[in-house]
Amino acid sequence: TRIEKAGHKHFMSKEIAEQPTVISDALSYYLSSDGAGINLPEDGIDFTAFDRIVMVACGTAFFACFTAKYWLEQIARIPVEVDVASEFRYREAPIAPRTLAIFVSQSGETADTLAALRYVAGKADKIVTITNSAESSMARESDLSLPILAGVEVGVASTKAFTCQLTVLLALAIEAASQRGVLARDEVKTHLSALRALPGLINAALDLRDDIDAISQELAEATDVLFLGRGAIYPIALEGALKLKEISYIHAEGYASGELKHGPIALVDTHTPIIVFAPRDKLFDKTVSNMQEVMARGGKVILVSDKTGIADAGDDVWRTIEMPRVSDAIAPILYALPAQLIAYHTAVAKGTDVDQPRNLAKSVTVE
Ligand code: G6P
Repeated sequence: TRIEKAGHKHFMSKEIAEQPTVISDALSYYLSSDGAGINLPEDGIDFTAFDRIVMVACGTAFFACFTAKYWLEQIARIPVEVDVASEFRYREAPIAPRTLAIFVSQSGETADTLAALRYVAGKADKIVTITNSAESSMARESDLSLPILAGVEVGVASTKAFTCQLTVLLALAIEAASQRGVLARDEVKTHLSALRALPGLINAALDLRDDIDAISQELAEATDVLFLGRGAIYPIALEGALKLKEISYIHAEGYASGELKHGPIALVDTHTPIIVFAPRDKLFDKTVSNMQEVMARGGKVILVSDKTGIADAGDDVWRTIEMPRVSDAIAPILYALPAQLIAYHTAVAKGTDVDQPRNLAKSVTVE
């Protein structure tokens, strides 16, 4: 069947708007109906059989892996190594016994990721692929293939596939923690009910579209934009920078908030917008000091936070985007929304080809 834009100007806009629905689909597939656990297809994954996880992907899928590293390490206490496939495949990385390898790929056909999967075949104890294409080469060559249920994604810049990948990965982290006895039964339930609230929260984040559009008109004038985040939001800052450069062609870099002082602060002047993704979590105060360093140099801070965070950040912030208050585990998925909307509206303001950005392909099946 032909995929239409359903009243949207671009596929990217349609796919951003579809996220509450497709994430609901993924949740219905993975969350058991009694609300007490996670269902995995086939034999699932025995997380007690592994001492470490290696995760490999490219592009946006790599940032999904990088976010999952924080979840799997913090929530499930399993050491995780992440790498981009083009580096991993040639590094001759030793694969220790009791290693689980996870590959994330929207298409399941990306040449470098497929080659990395073939490299670990026979070395890792189990190979799991998380993909939007159940028929893909990677799905076929894995021990277990987990669908993300995002539906067809046409826009070259990945949006709904990314948040569905994150949803599946967070469900896996909760399952791993539960199996390994790291989380008590009621803690598992708390995490699962937070997951179930996601579609509603994403709808609320989509309501910020007009506010973000207004800010994006100003961002469209910038030549360089910095994105900052900490903890599991750091990979979302990286994804925000990737999205903005991919479709608006504005130079953008993502940094860990604490790393700002080690270099990127040299770039800050009165023309530099600095987008800070910072829910009011336990490290928020540290991020506020990073923002103050930027504002003292005239940098224009756009703070994406919740009501308390915005109140605590003070009056020198240039623009704010007020997000719903969410639990730490869910925050990266929710904060992916403003990252997508900022890129989208800035690109539309610049008049670029949003769905088919120059020099990029949806699926890169050559090296
Ligand atoms: C291309 C696309 C990106 C995507 C990456 C990985 O570069 O333009 O949007 O993130 O490939 O694709 P995959 O299908 O493996 O997730």
